[in-house]
Amino acid sequence: MLLQELLGIDEEIYFVEESYLAQRTIERTLDYLNGVRRFVGEQRMRFIRVREGERTLGLLIFNSADEEVPVDFWSVFTGALAGAYSKKDFEALTDSLLIFNLLEKDIEVSSESWRDAVNEYYSLMLVNRNLCQGCTVRPESYGSIFSENRVNRVTEIFNILQEKGFYPEGRILEVCCGNGMSTLALYRLGLNPLAVEINKCAICQGLEQGVLNPQKTVVMDATALSRYFEPGSFDAVMGFMLGLVYEFNKELWLNIMRETISVANEGALMLFTVSSKPEIEILAEALFKAGVKGEIVDNTDSEGTYDQWFFVGRK
Ligand SMILES: C[S@@+](CC[C@H](N)C(=O)[O-])C[C@H]1O[C@@H](n2cnc3c(N)ncnc32)[C@H](O)[C@@H]1O
Repeated sequence: MLLQELLGIDEEIYFVEESYLAQRTIERTLDYLNGVRRFVGEQRMRFIRVREGERTLGLLIFNSADEEVPVDFWSVFTGALAGAYSKKDFEALTDSLLIFNLLEKDIEVSSESWRDAVNEYYSLMLVNRNLCQGCTVRPESYGSIFSENRVNRVTEIFNILQEKGFYPEGRILEVCCGNGMSTLALYRLGLNPLAVEINKCAICQGLEQGVLNPQKTVVMDATALSRYFEPGSFDAVMGFMLGLVYEFNKELWLNIMRETISVANEGALMLFTVSSKPEIEILAEALFKAGVKGEIVDNTDSEGTYDQWFFVGRK
C-alpha cells in the first residue's frame, strides 16, 4: 500500500473517517484528536507526522495490540482533503499535540502523493468488501465485462480531438467512469485521470479487474463535485456515454455539467460523449449557456450505440 511505503511502516493502518467523502468534513478526526489532546501529557504515545513544508497533512497515532484489537496498528488522521475551516482546525489541533515532542518520524511528502495514498486506502477498503457489510456480489470474468471494441471507440475520439487541436493535458477529471471501460482508453493514451463514479459496485468491479487505478478512483456523486474540489482544480474534464439524457431527467445531467464547469480551470478542455443527438443537444445547450465555447461532433458509426455524438470545447 502506498501509504505504508511513504511512511516506511509494516503495521496495519486505519483511517478514522469511514469514507473518502467524510474526509471533507473530518468530524470524527477533530473529535478524536480533541480527546487525545486531553490525555497526551499523561500517557506515552507514538506519533508520525506527515507534512508538506511546514503544513501538517497527516498524523498517525500508534495503537498496541490488546484484547479488543489483537494487532498493532496506526490510526491515521488527515485534514488534507478537508474544507478550509476544518483544515485550519486540524492543523491547529495537530500543532498543539506536536509540542509534546513525541514524534517517532517526521515525513515530508507532496500533497498529491498523500491524496493518492488516501484514495488508494479507500479503494482497497471497497474492493476488499470492508465498506459493504454482507456484500454477496461475486467477481465476473474480465471478458464478460470489458470490450476491446468499446475501448478502441473511445481511443479513436482522441484522434479526432488531435486533428481539431484539442488534446487534454494537466490535471484530468473523468466523471461517471462506471467500471472504467472508458478510463482504460485514457490510461492507454498515457492520461492519468481522477475517475469518479456514484455507483460503488461499478467502481469495485473496475478495481477488482485491475482496470481502475486505486490511487485515482473515488466513489463520488458528480452533482456534488464543488463540495470536494476547489474551483479551477482541473485542466480537462470529461465523461463518456453520459445518460440516458431525456427532457424528464435532464436536470441531473445539467447539474453534472454545471458542477464540472465549476471545478474546471479557465481554458480547460471539456469533452462529453453520449449515444444520441438529442442527448448531446441538451448537454451542449447548458455548456454554451455557461460560456463554454465548443462544438457538437457527429461520431456516428454503423453500430449506432456507443459515443455516437460528442461535445468538445473549452471553458
Ligand atoms: C452509461 S455509464 C458510462 C460508464 C463509462 N463512462 C463508460 O463509458 O463505459 C454512465 C455512468 O454514469 C454514472 N452516474 C450517473 N449519475 C451519476 C452521478 N450523479 N455521479 C457520478 N456518476 C453518475 C452511472 O452510475 C453510470 O456508471
